[in-house]
Amino acid sequence: MEISIAIDGPAGAGKSTIAKMIGKKFNLMYINTGSMYRAVTLKAMDANISENNVHDLVKLVGSLEMHFVEDSLYVNNEDLTNMINMPNISNNVSKYAAVPEIREILVKLQKDIAKKFNVIMDGRDIGTVVLKEAPFKFYLTASSEERAKRRYEELMSKGIKVDYNTILNDIIKRDFIDTHREVNPLTKASDAVEIDSSDLDIDGVVNVIVSYINSNI
Ligand code: DC
Repeated sequence: MEISIAIDGPAGAGKSTIAKMIGKKFNLMYINTGSMYRAVTLKAMDANISENNVHDLVKLVGSLEMHFVEDSLYVNNEDLTNMINMPNISNNVSKYAAVPEIREILVKLQKDIAKKFNVIMDGRDIGTVVLKEAPFKFYLTASSEERAKRRYEELMSKGIKVDYNTILNDIIKRDFIDTHREVNPLTKASDAVEIDSSDLDIDGVVNVIVSYINSNI
């Protein structure tokens, strides 16, 4: 049967790790929509285009061909996965993701992908906008301290030296911008299942989601 799964939640709630694992279990294409906003941010910063320069931003986004191979995002045939996860992108992405014209283009691209493939998508507006009709929607949360701790450990394990308090402040700032922007702010869809992962490990959350899907399929 056709299934599509929407996973939303704030930065660092474990969405991407969990979505990848669920995707493998149910044979779905995994689409990390945050990486698309990150790629636009990287390209815009490289080209010195600020978030206020909507005209140039729209032109830039139109010149980017994005596709996923496994879990990696290719932009104009270049794998940008590592670069877009660097802290300087994390610190600037919310500003660009708040630009309505950018959202319009990326949301359309995401909807087009979902029409062609069975997908699991993670992001901020998947259950509310991109996959409004998805039969399965989950909203993952965790305390900001727990999310900062996870991001900190993830970056340090990749050899990227960071400071815990800087990460925590970045997460709090990002949550604020993501939940307060005018267009498609982060919010739980009314029909999404909320899971607080503060006291659950990755396998614990995956088990909750898999059991829910299996008993509602
Ligand atoms: O999931 P992430 O941390 O990689 O997302 C990066 C940023 O992109 C995040 O600050 C909010 C934004 N985003 C968004 O606005 N809508 C999405 N569907 C996904 C991400």
